[in-house]
Amino acid sequence: MNLEELEEKRKKYLMPCYAHYFQEMLLIERGERQYLFDGQGKRYLDCFAGVAVVNCGHAHPLINQRAFEQMQSLVHISSLMLSSPMVLLAEKLAQITPGDLNRIFFCNSGAEAVEGATALVKAFTDNHQFIALRSSFHGRTLMALSLTAQKSWRGKGPYAPGVIFVANPYCYRCTFNLTYPSCGLACAEDVEMAIESCTNGEIGGFIAEPVQGNGGVIVPPMEYFGIVGEIVHRHGGLFIDDDVQCGFGRTGEWFGIQNFNVIPDLMTLGKGMANGLPLGAFVSNDVISRAFKPGQHFSTFGGNPVNCAAALATLEVLKEENLISNSRRVGEIFLEKLKNLEEKHPSIGEVRGLGLLIGVELVKDKKTKEPYPQGLSQILEFCRENGLLIGKAGPLGNVIRITPPLCFTEENVEEACEILERGLRQIEEAL
Ligand SMILES: Cc1ncc(COP(=O)(O)O)c(C=O)c1O
Repeated sequence: MNLEELEEKRKKYLMPCYAHYFQEMLLIERGERQYLFDGQGKRYLDCFAGVAVVNCGHAHPLINQRAFEQMQSLVHISSLMLSSPMVLLAEKLAQITPGDLNRIFFCNSGAEAVEGATALVKAFTDNHQFIALRSSFHGRTLMALSLTAQKSWRGKGPYAPGVIFVANPYCYRCTFNLTYPSCGLACAEDVEMAIESCTNGEIGGFIAEPVQGNGGVIVPPMEYFGIVGEIVHRHGGLFIDDDVQCGFGRTGEWFGIQNFNVIPDLMTLGKGMANGLPLGAFVSNDVISRAFKPGQHFSTFGGNPVNCAAALATLEVLKEENLISNSRRVGEIFLEKLKNLEEKHPSIGEVRGLGLLIGVELVKDKKTKEPYPQGLSQILEFCRENGLLIGKAGPLGNVIRITPPLCFTEENVEEACEILERGLRQIEEAL
């Protein structure tokens, strides 16, 4: 079916809430590792990976083969009975997640993982108050959205009570107008002040992404989570690391939080875990997970054998193809090249990132830092026309989000930067 016919059906049958990146709809028909192909066979270099999901690359033969083999024997049984892929995947995850995190619950998405993790925190601490960061994104279900502080995702409410938002560690636009490191990490201290002023001194949990993805690729100072973790524990709370977007090699480590040398009490996982098949999980340790009694939490499809088989293959590919070290190495090269562009181009306010999770913040003026969201829309279209797919992020709608498959090469970086630079020149004509 061609694009026009599909477009007609889309307009008729899909909910209008679906957002689309481009003025003219893009129909992708095929993927091959870091490349995508449209209906006319045009090749796109993918710096998007289906919103940071397809970490091993599109249509990875081994992952597809393992999922297909599993489909031929058993597609679904539910967690009320045993299937080996789910148990074996739990064992593997327990081996690679940090510290004593060794108990896994499988679900279908990042939002569902956040719902489950917060329910476990409530069960363990008997406290329903949470601290979350501004510009956070944790998903679109009620609790996940209640922990999300971005205007464009929130409606009129009401949301779950007991959530307190604090300043995010966003050095480029510091809430306190301070400069790192002389700021003394006022944003971390803000957590203590919020607990002291808005609660009786005790909280259930603190939730944060290691690097805020949708929030504009905000990389906190390295000591941030150590300071905040200590404050949270001192006030009886648990630290939930939302590693949904940062996990599975995206930031150059298995999990984003490992960049910060901190062991969280719980982790939420999703996106890259099964390289595109829907699978989420939350993880905790022996002590905390015992707060959930048998039957207290359930998900019909969670731990589905096909998706778990794909996830086992994904972990194998990430390791065997050295994709995590590649993410770190190529990510550093990418970041350096983009920083070179930052020096030359008036429309780049800041380039930041970890591994292959990179943000380029566009501004109209480097001094005033006035955001340039129109520039972002324009460069997105320009890149698409020139065979490069990039993402967008940030509450101000002005951050290019770069999240390619982790098999990205140095040559790919060259190609992407060359297209981006031409796009920057174009958007700068209007300044
Ligand atoms: C950090 C983070 N948490 C949770 C979610 C929600 O995941 P899902 O869309 O799979 O529900 C996302 C999705 O972008 C995310 O980036």
